[in-house]
Amino acid sequence: MRKFLVAGNWKMNGSSAANDALVAGITSGLTQSGSVEVLVCPPFPYLAAVAEQLRGSSVALGAQNVSEHASGAFTGEVSADMLVDIGCKYVIVGHSERRALYGESSEQVAEKFRAALNAGLTPVLCVGETLSERDSGRTEEVVAGQLAAVVALSGIASLASAVIAYEPVWAIGTGKVATPEQAQDVHKFIRGRLANENEDVAAAVQILYGGSMKGENAGGLLRMPDIDGGLIGGASLKSADFLAIVAAANEI
Ligand code: 13P
Repeated sequence: MRKFLVAGNWKMNGSSAANDALVAGITSGLTQSGSVEVLVCPPFPYLAAVAEQLRGSSVALGAQNVSEHASGAFTGEVSADMLVDIGCKYVIVGHSERRALYGESSEQVAEKFRAALNAGLTPVLCVGETLSERDSGRTEEVVAGQLAAVVALSGIASLASAVIAYEPVWAIGTGKVATPEQAQDVHKFIRGRLANENEDVAAAVQILYGGSMKGENAGGLLRMPDIDGGLIGGASLKSADFLAIVAAANEI
C-alpha cells in the first residue's frame, strides 16, 4: 500500500525568521497518529538550518535542485553528496520552472536524477505539460517523453527509489487546479506506462500531483486512486495552509 507524501516546495521564498516560524508551525501542528509522509524543500542557503530545526521530527528535508556533476569546477552548483552531507533525503529534479526558465532539457534532468540516486537521495521527478501542449492533445506524449529520458539513462528499476510529481504547468501558481479527473487521467497514464516495463515498480511508486493544491481541493484530488500526495508551492508557505493538506490526506 502506497503512503501519501505531502511535500512543500518553497521555491525562492523565505528568510531565516520566516522559516523558523514556518517549520515550528509545521512540526508542532503535525499529529503523532498521522501516517502521511511530510517533506519540506527550502532554498539552498537555509537547508542546514532547517535540517537542525527538523531534528527529532518526522518531517523530511529536500532540496529544489542538484547538479548533475559529482564535484569540481562548476561555480554556483551544489552536488548531491553535499545535500546528503547536510541532511537532505530528497531532491526535486526537473521542475517546470527549471525546464522553462533555466533551459533544463529532459536529458539533463535525467542526469540530475541519476546523480541524486547515486548519492542516496530520493529524486522527486517533475513532469507535466504546458497549456498549449494540453490544448493540442499532446499531454501524454510530453509526459511520456519526460519519463522516457530518465528510464533510458537509469533504467525502469530506478523509479522504485524515486517519486514522480505530475505538475501541469498551466496549474502552477495560477489558482487553476486540475480537476481530480484530469489529474487522475494523467497519473493513471504514468503508472500504466511504467507498468508496461515493470508492474512492481509501477505499483509502488508514489505519484504526487502539483499545481494550486490547497486544503480546500486536496481531498478531492487525493481520493483518486493514482494520486499519492501533493507537491505544494504557494500553500506550503504558511503552516496552517500546509497542515490543512496534510490533514486532508490523513482523513483518507
Ligand atoms: P503552486 O502550488 O503554487 O501552484 O506550485 C506548485 C508547484 O510548482 C510545486 O512544485
